[in-house]
Amino acid sequence: MVNGSEVITIERFIMEQERLYPEATGELSNLLYDLCLAAKIISRHVRRAGLSDILGAAGAVNVSGDLQQKLDLFANETVRNSVQHTGRVCVTASEEDPEPVPVPPGKAAGKYVVLYDPLDGSMNIDVNVSIGTIFSIHKRVTKKNGTAGLADCLQVGKKQIAAGYILYGSSTMLVYTTGQGVHGFTLDPTIGEFLLSHPDIRTPPVGRYYSVNESNWNRWTPPVQRVVAAFKNGEGTVQPKNARYIGSLVADFHRNLISGGIFLYPAATNYPQGKLRLLYEAAPLAFVVAQAGGRATDGCRPILDIVPASLHQKTPLVIGSKDDVAFAARILSTEAVVGAK
Ligand code: AHG
Ligand code: MN
Ligand code: MN
Repeated sequence: MVNGSEVITIERFIMEQERLYPEATGELSNLLYDLCLAAKIISRHVRRAGLSDILGAAGAVNVSGDLQQKLDLFANETVRNSVQHTGRVCVTASEEDPEPVPVPPGKAAGKYVVLYDPLDGSMNIDVNVSIGTIFSIHKRVTKKNGTAGLADCLQVGKKQIAAGYILYGSSTMLVYTTGQGVHGFTLDPTIGEFLLSHPDIRTPPVGRYYSVNESNWNRWTPPVQRVVAAFKNGEGTVQPKNARYIGSLVADFHRNLISGGIFLYPAATNYPQGKLRLLYEAAPLAFVVAQAGGRATDGCRPILDIVPASLHQKTPLVIGSKDDVAFAARILSTEAVVGAK
């Protein structure tokens, strides 16, 4: 944090956090640095996207059926290349790869698993709107001498070791948690360092904003419509909120984390399981928000309790200020029971 003389770089902060754990080997700290490097490289390309040949579609679609943008693929390679040669990681999995990617043969396989959305908000790249990268870190569960793979990736969110995101916004920020609170760092491009700017982030229990794509209104169930109407018009003790929706999950999430708010991507007739992916969008942000005093559910169940069945599994997502998420869950879970009868 730059307040007078004290400048705390992310490296120093991670080191000081590591000292709290005498048994720590430093591998997680180094993995977080590796992700910092990836963040700086991607940030450099994002900042120049309009000037270099990195805008536009790459001409293919990913396993979720999303049109891959050039920056999706660049970010995908950058994150993987920043972690897979270090001996700290055994396998990575990404929104942009159909299957998990074990470290190459001959390379040392470490004890960590990295799941990531390399570029979140892809459709906003070409129109200069904030985008992000989301990451989730688990510990390997398969035997060391075997080949790491899907079993190491399909882990329940509450077992995450660390999670966070990079937001390429008016500035580039890296926000992460290792279970000891949520801390935000802002990149000072003049020195190439992430500096502590938001120590121990806490999110207000009641939000100022609600974030949802209301063009899906007629595709939602009546309980979902009731929840969104309550945030728009007020209901009982819920006061009307301001609508803010950027279309980049990381940007909407971060604004709500800092100011207080609730983000919803409910199931809809065009997205029966919701649009967002559990392993590398919902679960990492659920870990972050829980560490900041917020909550995340699929409307009813805590996201961190959902056991994944497949790598690109989608989930409805309601995430943000804890009282707002609880209000939504009271309506969506009781009406789900009524609906089930
Ligand atoms: P991604 O670019 O990684 O596919 O993520 C896009 C997601 C998320 O960032 C955002 O909240 C959501 O798509 C917006 O979806 P709609 O345009 O359907 O509202
Ligand atoms: Mn995404
Ligand atoms: Mn993406």
